[in-house]
Amino acid sequence: MHTVLITGTSSGIGEAAAKALLADGWNVVATARDPATVLRGVENPRLLRVRLDLTDTQSIATAFEAASSQFSAIDLVVNNAGIGLGGPLEAVSLDQLREHLEVNVVGVAAVCQAAAAHMRSHGKGLIINVTSLAGRAGIPFLAPYCAAKFAVEGLTEALYYELRPFSIRVKLIEPGGARTKFSHLWASHPAYSSAADDVRQTMITGAEKAAPPERVAEVILAATKDNSDRLRYAATDAVPALRMLRLLPDWAWRKVLSKGFGLK
Ligand SMILES: NC(=O)c1ccc[n+]([C@@H]2O[C@H](COP(=O)([O-])OP(=O)(O)OC[C@H]3O[C@@H](n4cnc5c(N)ncnc54)[C@H](OP(=O)(O)O)[C@@H]3O)[C@@H](O)[C@H]2O)c1
Repeated sequence: MHTVLITGTSSGIGEAAAKALLADGWNVVATARDPATVLRGVENPRLLRVRLDLTDTQSIATAFEAASSQFSAIDLVVNNAGIGLGGPLEAVSLDQLREHLEVNVVGVAAVCQAAAAHMRSHGKGLIINVTSLAGRAGIPFLAPYCAAKFAVEGLTEALYYELRPFSIRVKLIEPGGARTKFSHLWASHPAYSSAADDVRQTMITGAEKAAPPERVAEVILAATKDNSDRLRYAATDAVPALRMLRLLPDWAWRKVLSKGFGLK
């Protein structure tokens, strides 16, 4: 029997991943800022609902303690929880930027620290961090979100080397769109309004047509079964986009992306 701790399971990809892993036979420690919002109506002795707020370091320690006292070793940690912040960078306040990075980067790093310490003491483990296509390519008017997701990409790639001697593997899941309640807190600035509004509308229209979060959960589940050293797994429409990013010269990729967002 294996145990997983997942962050942000109140909705979207985290909820879908918690359900998929539960159905696959895992003990699931499903965390959220409010555990009462987790997998409502699901009764299962292999499911433990625990509070975890990425901005509250003590809640991370308490969640790991609760998980190991109920199920002993935690074999897998999925860093899924995250928030969005977009708009022209000029319009984003530095306090907004700090709050964003506190959740999406510092909070994720804090969970990785707790996971590494726990897994070292058990001699093995797997950490899966959910980033985004926006963690591999700059997306116009998503500078704060890209900064956060690029940071988690770098952090995870560095951890790959650090944790390998302890038999702890790390993996990245890079979704494109997924149809969830995820949205970007949006900052506006009159100088950019036409281009920023167009890009935002393209994103909203794309989100309506995006794949359901279960498609990302399937990739997370597949990654747990992959014993190879593979680090990155694209999901949904990031699969063709990242293939193109790999194949095209840098200037050509930026041309394609600009055209896709209707930018000159
Ligand atoms: N949807 C997409 O198109 C997409 C694409 C690429 C990557 N992603 C990434 O996928 C992950 C999941 O997003 P989603 O689409 O499933 O969005 P979602 O439905 O909004 O889920 C986000 C989760 O994060 C939690 N969360 C927010 N702030 C938190 C905090 N301070 N501490 C702990 N949990 C917190 C939310 O819980 P509360 O109920 O407490 O707010 C919620 O459970 C995120 O990392 C996101 O960046 C999403």
